[in-house]
Amino acid sequence: MANDTNVTWHDHRVSREERERLHGHRGCVIWFTGLSGSGKSTIANVVDHMLAARGVKSAVLDGDNVRHGLNAGPGMLRESHGEAYAERFGLGFSAIDREENIRRIGAVAQLFCESGTIALTAFISPYRLDRDRVRAMMREGDFIEVFVDTPLEICEQRDPKGLYKKARAGEIKHFTGIDDPYEAPETPELVVCAGERTPEELATEVIDYLMKREILS
Ligand code: PPS
Repeated sequence: MANDTNVTWHDHRVSREERERLHGHRGCVIWFTGLSGSGKSTIANVVDHMLAARGVKSAVLDGDNVRHGLNAGPGMLRESHGEAYAERFGLGFSAIDREENIRRIGAVAQLFCESGTIALTAFISPYRLDRDRVRAMMREGDFIEVFVDTPLEICEQRDPKGLYKKARAGEIKHFTGIDDPYEAPETPELVVCAGERTPEELATEVIDYLMKREILS
């Protein structure tokens, strides 16, 4: 592991393998990617619920929530931390801020995974390179990319937060799918078509995949 400023990686006393044995399942990261309103968070939450019912250790990380804390925007940090800090560390929706958003989330998801937990992440994560970097950082097989393939027209019809309407009106700039790009995965582990089936049906597809891969037994 690259080492700047004399930082050393330590292995933990309880190994990942021991934790996985205790939990009775493997850790992994299920990385949902798709447009705003595609159903990422909904499906991730249904999978999480199904996993909890089986006694599996899992956790959901999603865009709106993480952007309230770890990856808060400048506006949220200004009052508590001051202007300079907010400008330097707050994240918005420019390409570089999205890159940093995904890098941080990837690192957090990896920590969950190494603790033998199934991390379910629901971020637009529009750039292929950013997602591939997270994949590359993880052990082989730990990163399961799930493309929530809901057409833009359906996302826009749903518009649960009224954001597409605002983006079309020019009130939000750089909105994914409107005036900002979304790069669909080329070889995801799983594609789910959230315009056609219920969240429960799609979540079952994810659970079946985990069984097939023997992440769950
Ligand atoms: S990203 O692209 O992965 O960094 O985005 P993410 O962290 O998942 O955050 C997406 C949520 O932020 C809201 N939002 C926007 N989305 C896209 N583009 C712009 N410009 C934007 N501004 C705010 C929106 O509620 C997204 O939530 P979801 O759940 O995806 O609809």
